Amino acid sequence: MRALFSLFAVAVIIVVVVLAVTTDAGRLFFGTILPYAAIAIFLVGMVYRVIDWARSPVPFKITTTSGQQRSLPWIRNSNLESPRNKWGVLGRMLLEVLFFRSLFRNTKADLKDGPRLVYGDAKWLWLAGLIFHWSFLIIFIRHFKFFVEPVPGWVMMIQNLDGFFQVGLPIFYITDGLILAALTFLFLRRVLIPQMRYISLAGDYFPLFVIGGLVISGMIMRYTPLRVDITDAKLMGVGLVTLDPVLPEGLGAIFFVHLTMLTVLLLYFPFSKLTHMAGVFMSPTRNQANDNRVRRHINPWNPEVKVHTYEEWEDEFREVMKAADMPLEKDTESK
Ligand code: HEM
Repeated sequence: MRALFSLFAVAVIIVVVVLAVTTDAGRLFFGTILPYAAIAIFLVGMVYRVIDWARSPVPFKITTTSGQQRSLPWIRNSNLESPRNKWGVLGRMLLEVLFFRSLFRNTKADLKDGPRLVYGDAKWLWLAGLIFHWSFLIIFIRHFKFFVEPVPGWVMMIQNLDGFFQVGLPIFYITDGLILAALTFLFLRRVLIPQMRYISLAGDYFPLFVIGGLVISGMIMRYTPLRVDITDAKLMGVGLVTLDPVLPEGLGAIFFVHLTMLTVLLLYFPFSKLTHMAGVFMSPTRNQANDNRVRRHINPWNPEVKVHTYEEWEDEFREVMKAADMPLEKDTESK
């Protein structure tokens, strides 16, 4: 039901766009007004979330560790598993963000005959997640050709590498096939595994369908007779980023569907689980060094404690103590 609800929501958006862009007002709304509004909401929303996280107090040192902490010189420390300094934190964070290192350690538990609880590897989610995110990034970078003139050499290089196998004409991009396969896996995993289906919410399916819609509409524009005129698309793209929006006549409904899928994604982003894109950097379990044997972590929630040191106490009772012949740490007269 939750999957169907999300699918229905995306289908309704597509139908509304297709109908609306038959009018000038509709083209203006979905081609200019909504995209700019979405970019603004995305930027403000994400900045707000990051500032909010940054201002949250971190009462404890809660680094996630899975290796030896730095202690005595003859015990080998694992600076990636239990970072002792900023370099360790940086290295671990980079491996996490670029290669999903902690997900690589994902395990599954099965109840076998016996009954016996058996643990095993579970690498498919890691692989599909990695393929999905990397393909998305490469497609995003390839799209720079629609927004900048001249197109940078490195963008063309990535595009040529992506079309390396030169399957058919227009050349098939490897990332198009990979992202579709990964999205299919991520979706099927949620609907076919009963435990996953049970915990999946509409908010888990919706982004999959929106990104699916974005990719499929893009592929329709490239590989089917509904091809888009690249010159028109570029005019529109450059107009959008130079704040001089134009909507060439040649851009058909499928282009507006493509653009609206991205617009919806941007609008939805700051309010959803997709904020993990920025959140991963703000997570205290990952961005702190495990150095609490060296550096004292002060809890910002601690109230100001009024202390009365021994020194102050001795100053207060010096005369009485002296009269009682009690030992003093600081004998003012003898000095
Ligand atoms: C991050 C957001 C976006 C994603 C993930 C995305 C995804 C895709 C995909 C998968 C394709 C299929 C062909 C290919 O891989 O190049 C495609 C094609 C296309 N996209 Fe996007 N797109 C995005 C944003 C945009 C935007 C903002 C525009 C507006 C100018 C745009 C315009 C196009 C056009 C014109 C094509 C056809 C390309 C061709 O015929 O070679 N896309 N898109």
